[in-house]
Amino acid sequence: MQVDVLLGLQWGDEGKGKVVDVLTPRYDVITRFQGGPNAGHTLEFNNIKHVLHTIPSGIFRGDKINIIGNGVVIDPSIFKKEIESLKNIGFDLTKTLYISKKAHLILPTHRLLDAASEAAKGELKIGSTLKGIGPTYRDKIGREGLRIGDILHNFKEKYQERVAQHIELLTKFYQFDYKQALEDYEKEWFEGIEVIKQFQLIDSEHFINNLLLAGKSVIAEGAQGTMLDIDFGSYPFVTSSNTIAAGACTGLGIAPNKIGKVYGIFKAYCTRVGSGPFPTELLDGTGETLRRIGKEYGATTGRPRRCGWLDLVALRYAIMIDGVTDLIMMKADVMDRFETIKICTSYSISGVITKDFPNEIDDQVTPVYTELKGWKTDLTEVDHTSKFPEELSNYIQFIEEYLGVPVTIVSVGPNRSQTIER
Ligand code: GDP
Ligand code: IMO
Ligand code: MG
Repeated sequence: MQVDVLLGLQWGDEGKGKVVDVLTPRYDVITRFQGGPNAGHTLEFNNIKHVLHTIPSGIFRGDKINIIGNGVVIDPSIFKKEIESLKNIGFDLTKTLYISKKAHLILPTHRLLDAASEAAKGELKIGSTLKGIGPTYRDKIGREGLRIGDILHNFKEKYQERVAQHIELLTKFYQFDYKQALEDYEKEWFEGIEVIKQFQLIDSEHFINNLLLAGKSVIAEGAQGTMLDIDFGSYPFVTSSNTIAAGACTGLGIAPNKIGKVYGIFKAYCTRVGSGPFPTELLDGTGETLRRIGKEYGATTGRPRRCGWLDLVALRYAIMIDGVTDLIMMKADVMDRFETIKICTSYSISGVITKDFPNEIDDQVTPVYTELKGWKTDLTEVDHTSKFPEELSNYIQFIEEYLGVPVTIVSVGPNRSQTIER
């Protein structure tokens, strides 16, 4: 069996949580392979909205196996809150959720270092979610991180050693007042460590490969989006992990030839939260309309998301890096009332037209648009492609022809049921 991967192709928040939940009945195993609680994946069914940060989006579909892979970074206090709120609504995950011993821990001081680093950057801040993601991956790559497996042996000692070094940095380099915040935070963090101990801590690479050998089907759920990838995103305005399809190999311990389908998710328009270039951003009333109708506010931080037209140059680049086999278009309903819709088909860079996503994006890059007719139809009740208005079919066909990959699912609302296969 192979591992199918589902990834965001834009700047995150494409609707990954919703689609993983919809696709879960087709899989035995659902995994997360990178990122951490910077992610906020929203699922809606039975009129209840759930936001998951660390836990895979397959947990609401009965006895599936859910795995947090080695590439993920875990904050025990956030994990504890997630587990408790799920328990309160009747979902006990102790038997169905497995955690890799190689996943790294976000320490309370990582979170403080994230805040200190962002404050020191001032205007140039990344706009991070302040969850400690950057400092945790920095320690991982610097070979100084703590992993889930460390909880099992001499943990307090290892913890104190790391924290002492972080405090040096916080005080001497950043002059950051950390004491009260650390005290408040440590208590719930150690309670979270106790919660983690109740779960099955596994050698996830063996576990997953054995499941594949036993004929189990696996889906890997990406976090963030391709344009936030540490290597291929708009560095330094990116997250600190490989969000691309290859990240599923390193974040789970599966070989490249085990990757099957790559589902690439995109919104029918674009959003970005945090700093960094965004060529098709709309700073006018149309951007505001997209934000209002699309309810574009961060699921993790509540920040308003920047909105803009669909960018096929960026999407084409993401598809190249990820090897996307199936496209999934989300939130088509948000543009239901638009007379016309623009799509960016190339960039003009200092007067030169290109379809290749450039290494640097500055104010010399201007998007070139094609304008299509809007569908002016309420899509939220549409349940079959045969009921698609002609203008929507044209919009999808235009995208498919440009990108050379089929759009196999169209989403027309946040609910499970508002998902149409083509
Ligand atoms: P993720 O991080 O990729 O899982 O996406 P988020 O959960 O951060 O953001 C997607 C938001 O759009 C959530 O609030 C979803 O409930 C909502 N959503 C998902 N699909 C659709 C859709 O087709 N239409 C509308 N209107 N909302 C959607
Ligand atoms: P999901 O999985 C949207 C953005 C932050 C910031 C940059 C770095 O819900 O799509 P970090 O906290 O990772 O150091 O922040 O990345 N960012 C996201 N934007 N969706 C996310 O996750 C994001 N996770 C991080 O806003 O610009
Ligand atoms: Mg999100």
